[in-house]
Amino acid sequence: MGVAIIGTGSYLPELKLTNRDMEMMVDTSDEWIITRTGIKERRICPKNKASSDLGYEASLRAIEDAKIKKEEIEFIICATITPDMYFPSTSCIIQKKLGLKNIPCFDFQAACSGFIYGLEIARGLINGCGYKKGLVIASECMSRLTDYTDRSTCVLLGDGAGAVVVSYSEEDGIIDSFLSSNGNYGNLLFTPAGGTLKQSSFETIENRENFMKMEGSTLFKIAIYTMAEAVEKILKRNNLRKEDISIVIPHQANLRIIAGVAEKLGISIEKFFINIEKYGNMSASCVPIALDEAVKEGKIKKGDLIITVAFGAGLTWASNLIRWIK
Ligand code: UT7
Repeated sequence: MGVAIIGTGSYLPELKLTNRDMEMMVDTSDEWIITRTGIKERRICPKNKASSDLGYEASLRAIEDAKIKKEEIEFIICATITPDMYFPSTSCIIQKKLGLKNIPCFDFQAACSGFIYGLEIARGLINGCGYKKGLVIASECMSRLTDYTDRSTCVLLGDGAGAVVVSYSEEDGIIDSFLSSNGNYGNLLFTPAGGTLKQSSFETIENRENFMKMEGSTLFKIAIYTMAEAVEKILKRNNLRKEDISIVIPHQANLRIIAGVAEKLGISIEKFFINIEKYGNMSASCVPIALDEAVKEGKIKKGDLIITVAFGAGLTWASNLIRWIK
């Protein structure tokens, strides 16, 4: 028996923050943002909503797409670095919103690589633990970690959620996953305060330490070679050639990173699904949202081989090899 994705869904909050809006907030320009990142606008979650609300909506859509009853869901796992609160988990909050009871639910985080890690965790739950169907969700409200006075990060980030229903399957859908990380580079992308190391205080708020800090240009270079490595390794150990791949679903941090990965791999950028212009970087949510859009736009057909690939804080990097069986 194998494990496969049988339904996809995504949800983006309605509120748009355009590059023109950003020009009014910090010293930047539409031209700089487009040429250096490829981003035109991003979505922002309203103040009275949270990651669980976005994840709930994406889950409903994935369940509908899978044509199953929600009661068939036997576990819920959620990748997020922006949970509603420390605890309970965002997965448990989504479980309550879905009206489901007595199934395992937990969050995990591998930052932007989170959803890719999640598919592998779900594969283990189904193959190793006997569950039949589950939800893998990525939901992020990156706006909550964004310093809207820091032009080097605030133009990049947005909010959104993606979800998939995974199921046991006669055909192997999630064929393999490559997961890696290197904690030595943790200081390149992090939030200094708000955790147990440095609790939130008047001082941390005043120093803007509860917001994300990033060394962009160093990460840029690491992103290209680690994402390329994640694709190369998964192809090699599955005896596949680049030509066998129908589509690559990459993390959407920067259009120039995606172009750099494509060039390094010698795979045409035309094979990479790109929607960064609409949403910016939504951390773990980028990959499942892009996957859902690629499916709905008819860019993925039954039998296609798909590679997902991402890179993010940790540092983490990862890829999945998926055969589309729907
Ligand atoms: O999700 C995974 C983790 N994140 C990433 O992978 C992000 C990786 N990094 C990047 O995408 C890029 O490094 C950035 C988009 C963040 C920055 O682009 P860059 O081409 O690496 O620019 P830079 O940081 O080298 O800065 C170039 C110049 C600087 O000015 P000076 O020192 O040359 O005068 C910055 O101050 O651009 C300036 N700059 C801006 N100018 C206008 C930085 N941000 C902005 C801005 N608007 N928003």
